Amino acid sequence: MGNITEEISRRRTFAIISHPDAGKTTLTEKLLLYGGAIHIAGAVKSNKIKKTATSDWMEIEKQRGISVATSVMGFNYGDYKINILDTPGHQDFAEDTYRTLTAVDSVIIVVDVAKGVEQQTRKLMEVCRMRNTPVIIFVNKLDREGRDPFEILDELESELKISVRPLSWPINIGAKFKGVYNIYEHSLDLFTPNKQKVSERVEISDINDPAIDSAVGEADSKKLRDDIELIDGVYPEFDTEEYLRGKLAPVFFGSALNTFGVKELLDCFVKIAPSPRPIQAEEREVNPSEPAFSGFVFKIHANMDPNHRSCIAFVKVCSGEFKRNFNYKHVRTGKFIRFAAPTAFMAQKKSIVDEAYPGDIVGIPDTGNFKIGDTLTEGEELHYRGLPSFSPEMFKYIENTDPMKSKQLEKGIQQLMDEGVAQLFINQFNGRKIIGTVGQLQFEVIQYRLLNEYGAQCRWEPISLYKACWIESDDDEALAAFKKRKHQFMAVDRDDRDVFLADSNYVLQMAQNDFPKIRFHFSSEY
Ligand code: G4P
Repeated sequence: MGNITEEISRRRTFAIISHPDAGKTTLTEKLLLYGGAIHIAGAVKSNKIKKTATSDWMEIEKQRGISVATSVMGFNYGDYKINILDTPGHQDFAEDTYRTLTAVDSVIIVVDVAKGVEQQTRKLMEVCRMRNTPVIIFVNKLDREGRDPFEILDELESELKISVRPLSWPINIGAKFKGVYNIYEHSLDLFTPNKQKVSERVEISDINDPAIDSAVGEADSKKLRDDIELIDGVYPEFDTEEYLRGKLAPVFFGSALNTFGVKELLDCFVKIAPSPRPIQAEEREVNPSEPAFSGFVFKIHANMDPNHRSCIAFVKVCSGEFKRNFNYKHVRTGKFIRFAAPTAFMAQKKSIVDEAYPGDIVGIPDTGNFKIGDTLTEGEELHYRGLPSFSPEMFKYIENTDPMKSKQLEKGIQQLMDEGVAQLFINQFNGRKIIGTVGQLQFEVIQYRLLNEYGAQCRWEPISLYKACWIESDDDEALAAFKKRKHQFMAVDRDDRDVFLADSNYVLQMAQNDFPKIRFHFSSEY
């Protein structure tokens, strides 16, 4: 058992995010190789649901089965304890990713050099920006033809709305890719396309070292020197504080598949990335080094086996030391619970842990007590704020097709919503239940899981909705008038809060114009 301050300072808890296919899985795997957590490439299939598998149940189930093990990947690298939190690649599971981002201290964004900033990356970056999460960017696939690196930097800056600072620089790309100059450490690595072997390092004193000319040729070394001069002229010196404030993203270039530029990224990452920092709970700011344990549930993973309706709740330790067999308070219910078999995730294996420190993730077997966002403490009334729910993008009525099983359906819907699979709204006009999701796949997953885990059958019916927005007003009369006028379009969420169901952008805008005293919110936290 270590000293808590030391344990905290050596922890790096982060997520890798990207648009599907940019190379997140490959990079994760290479980081695990460096950490000795796996020994061969190809070992991580992650909980990646391939695009081809959009409606393939068995595939989803299989993926979910292995995804508990790869949800959190902990390993030691030098003196550091690294926890990588996996996020689903499929965009229909974006909500899961958003929530996982509440449990990380920093993020690595992977961008494909040919494609630049893609839609999913943009969205995820918005969530990082909301929380001022520090981000490092890895521009991947330099072994392939792609865009000019300066152009990529401009795009990162304008599309991701963050200042950037290259800390490494490629010498050509695609077929002519020769290597990467490490601006941060003034070193040069030559590219040898090989999936397993680490690249060759050329010892140099600085950018003017003639060894660079011998290694890459005169023309390319001249270009490199010009580029570096330009970079140093255009971009201010890298400032770690700015990075930690989430205002500046260092950029690395490489090829994850070829394990190239990955070590540089990792070495810089462990140096500059934050260890767990103070977190603002509703009541007060909580410092990780406080002696009393506290943490929150950011993810619930259900067991797909219908005979074992158990889940694993993933708890991020925020302060103090988590100990096995201790009684901790489940703040939402006020109950004290003892955890006899909490698990940690090291080197892709799940094993029982006796203690865990801030930054660590503990898996707690659960039989439906927990909801996403629940706080655990030693007794204090603390509430960590989760990520708000965003207005879903797709809506459907859910209808029971087996009247004998309505109780099961009720319970199933309730628990799936607790897990955060989708959002439920109840239309106040006709009493019908509406499920809102971020993608089509969720509807299929819900239907499948209701049947398999709860024995309940449902059918979807279309509803034409543009957005669900939470409404409030300081003026009770205005609120009542709005609800009366829009009574067919009023619903409540699971916490009984008023939600307006706008069927088009036009209707929403008209409502906003006509009812100036009403505030419309597009996320549940306001
Ligand atoms: P994702 O998790 O972000 O969705 O991406 P993933 O790592 O699965 O990578 C997507 C594809 O890009 C994979 O090929 C992978 O091999 C390839 N890739 C990743 N990094 C590099 C790189 O540095 N250079 C090149 N040239 N390719 C790279 P795939 O054929 O779709 O999948 P697989 O059959 O190889 O798994």
